Amino acid sequence: MSRESLIIFDTTLRDGEQSPGASMTRDEKLLIARQLERLRVDVIEAGFAAASPGDFEAVRAIAQAIKDATVCSLSRANEADISRSAEALRGAARGRIHTFIATSPLHMEKKLRMSPDEVYAQARRAVRFARQHCADVEFSPEDGYRSEPDFLCRIIEAVIAEGATTINIPDTVGYAVPELFGAFIRDLRERIPNSDKAIWSVHCHNDLGLAVANSLAGVTVGGARQIECTINGLGERAGNCSLEEVVMAVRTRRDHFKLDVHIDTTQIVPASRMVSQTTGFAVQPNKAVVGANAFAHASGIHQDGVLKARDTYEIMRAEDVGWSANKIVLGKLSGRNALRQRLTEIGLTAPEGTEFDALFARFKELADRKAEVFDEDLLALLSDESHAHAHEHYRFMSLAQQSHSGQRSQATVRFVAGEAELNPSAEGNGAVDAVLSAIEAEARSGAQLLLYSVNAISTGSTESQGEVTIRLQGTDRIVNGVGADPDIVVASAKAYLAALNKLRAGADRIPAQV
Ligand code: KIV
Ligand code: ZN
Repeated sequence: MSRESLIIFDTTLRDGEQSPGASMTRDEKLLIARQLERLRVDVIEAGFAAASPGDFEAVRAIAQAIKDATVCSLSRANEADISRSAEALRGAARGRIHTFIATSPLHMEKKLRMSPDEVYAQARRAVRFARQHCADVEFSPEDGYRSEPDFLCRIIEAVIAEGATTINIPDTVGYAVPELFGAFIRDLRERIPNSDKAIWSVHCHNDLGLAVANSLAGVTVGGARQIECTINGLGERAGNCSLEEVVMAVRTRRDHFKLDVHIDTTQIVPASRMVSQTTGFAVQPNKAVVGANAFAHASGIHQDGVLKARDTYEIMRAEDVGWSANKIVLGKLSGRNALRQRLTEIGLTAPEGTEFDALFARFKELADRKAEVFDEDLLALLSDESHAHAHEHYRFMSLAQQSHSGQRSQATVRFVAGEAELNPSAEGNGAVDAVLSAIEAEARSGAQLLLYSVNAISTGSTESQGEVTIRLQGTDRIVNGVGADPDIVVASAKAYLAALNKLRAGADRIPAQV
């Protein structure tokens, strides 16, 4: 007997990216979109095309590259945004326009300054207009869970009549609790006469740590058949519903949910790593499914049990969610073909010509310093190289530093700023401080350092590459820069320059949900 399917709608590249500091370049988004396709998500929300020319280009590039998933673009409920989404999605194998407008009394009055009747009319117009461009249209009443049910019924019935094919109910502020949220969706579906003409979806934020539980209640109690989620639960504030958790809950407890998800779960850990390496948002070690400790049994009793019979303490197998992907793949004897082949196997596109030569030279340099080169190292190398070739304003060249305990450290950093090659020196409270001060002496960004963190990219050994994340507060934005190198002082310089590049880019962006 074939089961009903649960649609997995990934919004890492749109709602996840709204998390302060998580903004990604077009190429980074494309890389993640390809991984989402390998993961076999049903829908990829690629961005908010009207937000900026950069966002438009990212949606367009993803729409053209992705063949196996529906590519979706968010739009406010107005013709300009919807036209921009339609244009970005032109050429997509399957495209979806997602339009939204706030419907809670608070948002309508304070944010939109519109009456309920005006919001109702605008939502109808928007869906009608979107349907003229695309057969697949999703409508979201923003802050839906805090909206008046009578008003929601009226507006949703109208947008379904206008042709909305998916109705998504967001818990925008993460206020819901599972029993109430499930019943809320069920009541709406029961009260709206044409509710069976659309697929129902849930979109939960995690402010109370309940996003996954609420989404699952939306499915079991409410009858929703689409869940909106992000890799690692990335998203503003406490984040969104986490993809890996809902997917593994539905898979592991098929007996209860009785639904099929089409995800290739072995791609979960590679996707998690890619998102955290790209955005600089580290995954907490005890995070379900993708945390470093998720399958580590430290206590003697547990280890003994797992060795005798795995399911004494394990409900999922690490390899089923992709942990085995963390293999030693290349070393200093590996040649150009091996590098090219491994990049292709893990879904990364190897550059051509001189760009490949440069990448191979960097790979050899790394393999000389570090005997084992992991997939994560390759991802970091490729991302470093693609930044170098993207002609970003700031580019790291080299550094020298001296530290003696009990004395202030000194550093000189050589880097490129536009056309100029700079060589500033500075002192600091330790090597990293001296390096960042030297860069800042020339860059004069005035940005405030909000976060500095170091992680080992692959194994926990001291030979592993250090991955540094630096979060900066500029005048109008927060950005994260990530840098990797076996020497964490060098990684710090790269991360700082990467953050400065992000501060310079994308200043023209309109935030979603305004
Ligand atoms: O949280 C929210 O309300 C949203 C909508 C735009 C779907 O992200
Ligand atoms: Zn959201």
